[in-house]
Amino acid sequence: MSKLWGGRFTKQTDQLVEEYTASITFDKELAEEDIQGSLAHVTMLGKCGILPQEDVETIKDGLNRVLGMIRRGELEYSIANEDIHMNIEKTLIDEIGPVGGKLHTGRSRNDQVATDMHLYLRGRVVEFVSLLQKLQEALLTQAKANLDTIVPGYTHLQRAQPILFAHHLMAYVSMFQRDIERLQDSYKRINVLPLGAGALAGTTFPIDRHFVAEQLGFEGVYENSLDAVSDRDFILEFLANASFIMMHLSRFCEELVMWSSTEFNFVELDDAFCTGSSIMPQKKNPDVAELVRGKTGRVYGNLFGLMTVLKSLPLAYNKDMQEDKEGMLDTVRTLQGALQLFAPMISTMKVNKDRMRQAVNQDFSNATDIADYLVNKGLPFRQAHEVIGKTVLYCIQEGKFLLDLSMEEFNKFSELFGDDIYEVLQPEQVVNARNVYGGTASSQVEGAIARAEKALEVTVSWVDSKLDKSK
Ligand code: ARG
Repeated sequence: MSKLWGGRFTKQTDQLVEEYTASITFDKELAEEDIQGSLAHVTMLGKCGILPQEDVETIKDGLNRVLGMIRRGELEYSIANEDIHMNIEKTLIDEIGPVGGKLHTGRSRNDQVATDMHLYLRGRVVEFVSLLQKLQEALLTQAKANLDTIVPGYTHLQRAQPILFAHHLMAYVSMFQRDIERLQDSYKRINVLPLGAGALAGTTFPIDRHFVAEQLGFEGVYENSLDAVSDRDFILEFLANASFIMMHLSRFCEELVMWSSTEFNFVELDDAFCTGSSIMPQKKNPDVAELVRGKTGRVYGNLFGLMTVLKSLPLAYNKDMQEDKEGMLDTVRTLQGALQLFAPMISTMKVNKDRMRQAVNQDFSNATDIADYLVNKGLPFRQAHEVIGKTVLYCIQEGKFLLDLSMEEFNKFSELFGDDIYEVLQPEQVVNARNVYGGTASSQVEGAIARAEKALEVTVSWVDSKLDKSK
């Protein structure tokens, strides 16, 4: 089969070279975006008088026919046609004849492929913002149901201070909010049109780049034609944002795996989100959480893969850049899988409130509070810390917790202790005493939930405002 670029060649391409250089096996995922870009380009060629209107209509009809073939799975992609751009162009020419060859006027695959990637990622960014927002919704529902659930809070994975379970969940809502905002910020840089840069220097045809941008819903056009075809920052930014999201999910996964162990027994993941063991009949494994945690590795790998491809690469298009696609597509699939599963896994998670309470009752996570109690009675904090350290040591030796101590025992450590100490040490009191903005007191957490719900509405309307532009 003759190549679209075959004129200058006297020999057939080596079969292995053809296979090695082709990208059609993976860039076929950009088929819809490629046609979308071509439709806008050819419309502009007509409007600028570069092609007669009659040819423009024939090409548009042809492109829509090819789109139909793609959607019905009828288009047979061929490695000989190398990539999605040439597969579509070749099919177009087969369908409508030589006039199809006019589509590529004033365009190069270099600005074409960049345009496809911008269109593709623009849609994915909206999709991921929406998926993150659904996850936040699931977290907020669980948080509201757990405003009275007290759980040990940990530092160094050692019991530290009791907190509301809702407060812990709301930490993730904040983390995912930053992820949403990072994606939204990246949208500005994704939503810029490279087309019109030609191979690298622009084109001799009197094209109208702003008209193409407007048709495709892009906010603007690349300033510099060289930059337009060289730039893959927007993909790196996406991969970095995806890495953040996966890192956040992996921390959550780690906690879910711990919490659902017999040792913690704080939560139970729904049967639908767990799997069994082929040998141990008693097992119920948190596989989804483990796999999301594990898949974080490949997403980081994709980021570093492309960072390395682009390192030291001279400007304008180099074939190395074809390596931008597989990692990006893999990241999109990985993130879709993780986020689609996460929200329902959280909504269906059973929270073992009694077990959490039992854990809180059997620890020293109220120790800071009696130190603060002594401080309020006038003792310098450093001395109070020492006194309580000794009190805790005594409790450990006696097999008691702070609330088990008699007034007499308390007074052995400090005369400043009075009857009110028993009230101060109650977990509810300990939690509600942290009544600062961002703290775990229930009124503060209620405020945080209300604010997060407002932010959620803002996200929903952002998604709605962008949806018409992406598919
Ligand atoms: N398949 C190529 C890629 O994905 C398209 C651009 C090809 N441009 C070129 N000058 N060979 O990067």
